[in-house]
Amino acid sequence: MKILYVEDEEALLNLISMEIEAELDCQVIEITSGNKAITWLKENDLSDLKAVISDHKMPDGSGAVLFSYIKENHPTLPFILTTGSAEANNTKEFAELLTVNPRNSIQIKPFHLDILIEKIKDIVASEENLPLNNFLRVSHSRFRKAQVPPCDIYLKMSDEKYLKISNAHEEITEDFLEKYVKKGVDYFYVTASDFQLFSKYYNDLVKNQLQQNNLIEEKVDYQLQGFESIQDYVQNIGLDGNVVETMNIVTKSSVEVMRNNPDLFKLVERMMHEENYLSEHSIMISYIAGALALEMEWVTSATLQKLATAALLHDIHLADPHLARMSHRPEEEWGLELRPEQVELIRRHPIIMADIIKKTKGIEPDVDVIIFNHHETADGHGYPRRLDHHKIFPLAAFFIVSECFVNEIYGKKPSKQEIDQIIKQLEKKFNKGNFKKAVEALQKVFSNPYHS
Ligand SMILES: [Fe+2]
Ligand SMILES: [Fe+2]
Repeated sequence: MKILYVEDEEALLNLISMEIEAELDCQVIEITSGNKAITWLKENDLSDLKAVISDHKMPDGSGAVLFSYIKENHPTLPFILTTGSAEANNTKEFAELLTVNPRNSIQIKPFHLDILIEKIKDIVASEENLPLNNFLRVSHSRFRKAQVPPCDIYLKMSDEKYLKISNAHEEITEDFLEKYVKKGVDYFYVTASDFQLFSKYYNDLVKNQLQQNNLIEEKVDYQLQGFESIQDYVQNIGLDGNVVETMNIVTKSSVEVMRNNPDLFKLVERMMHEENYLSEHSIMISYIAGALALEMEWVTSATLQKLATAALLHDIHLADPHLARMSHRPEEEWGLELRPEQVELIRRHPIIMADIIKKTKGIEPDVDVIIFNHHETADGHGYPRRLDHHKIFPLAAFFIVSECFVNEIYGKKPSKQEIDQIIKQLEKKFNKGNFKKAVEALQKVFSNPYHS
């Protein structure tokens, strides 16, 4: 195996390379700048390359230039940054370092050689396990609609063992699902190579249903399934052209339902199964934010579509409901319950998704800004930028109020009085600028006799 080591201080480069070779059965390729490393990566067979270790400040192509090249071209190649700056992961260049590949890491100089060697050993060991991770999870609820999935389905027995429980093109019955759900199984698995096939089959099914003239209740069910399926896809594969098309059909359908002035109480109830926090939380925000926008007479489809798309995508990197809930708790509490990389993920999830959206074709403008702002607060104490209400994008203020309301009602079946109570609390919290307008709209929406 090979390790690529990039460092402009040649004495250090030679010494550490020698130590790594002595400790691990590998060849260290020694390179003195980022640009030379990129050339080496372009010209050599990389099948045996296990990791890249790189300094940051180098005269001919920095570590940041090299990281950016690797992120774009070899995103699964582990990258260990060695730097004198303890704040490196807070800089723009390395913002995605720890999230883009879980095997990336940062070693602050001066570092102990043993620690670096342990890191490389971890990388090699985790790669040996990779074939076992060649299964991607799919929520059991997706199989309610995908009755004859085109691929085998597996159950996870342990990190090493997956058991096939159904063959491709076999019917998935309600009894079959119930058997596993009763045992507390939340997810089934498909092989990584089948995942795209399954997603395409499933998304086509959702798209077909949404384009038919179904009852509102049925449409809402399929929208929820669509949200879930898209979120699974983006988590497993990423945001690409295949999913943008489905996303636009699903969000258009939710906008259409909103325009028919549905009974919001009933709608919210219908979406809350407490089965999949992320998708239910997201679709509820899309409905509440849509209702507020219509109340403000922002009736253009583009506005409604922006809010629905932002709702669908905003928390995709917080798939773990515990993390999603913690993201609304005060920042002082994060460190008490979460590991540093989880805290980092919470802090950065608005930035990561906004960045991805900016690079993706076919998504409405402003969706990235709404997502970037979605944890800011009216008083300027939010994150990641501590913007105050003057600087927060108006649609984002409506989104933030909607999300706060959804958090309050999630998992409860609030009565009219309880909703009034919640709105009163929000009035105190959001008493400035667009936030104030958003709460007023919320109050009007829920005082509409049709909705109570
Ligand atoms: Fe959220
Ligand atoms: Fe969030």
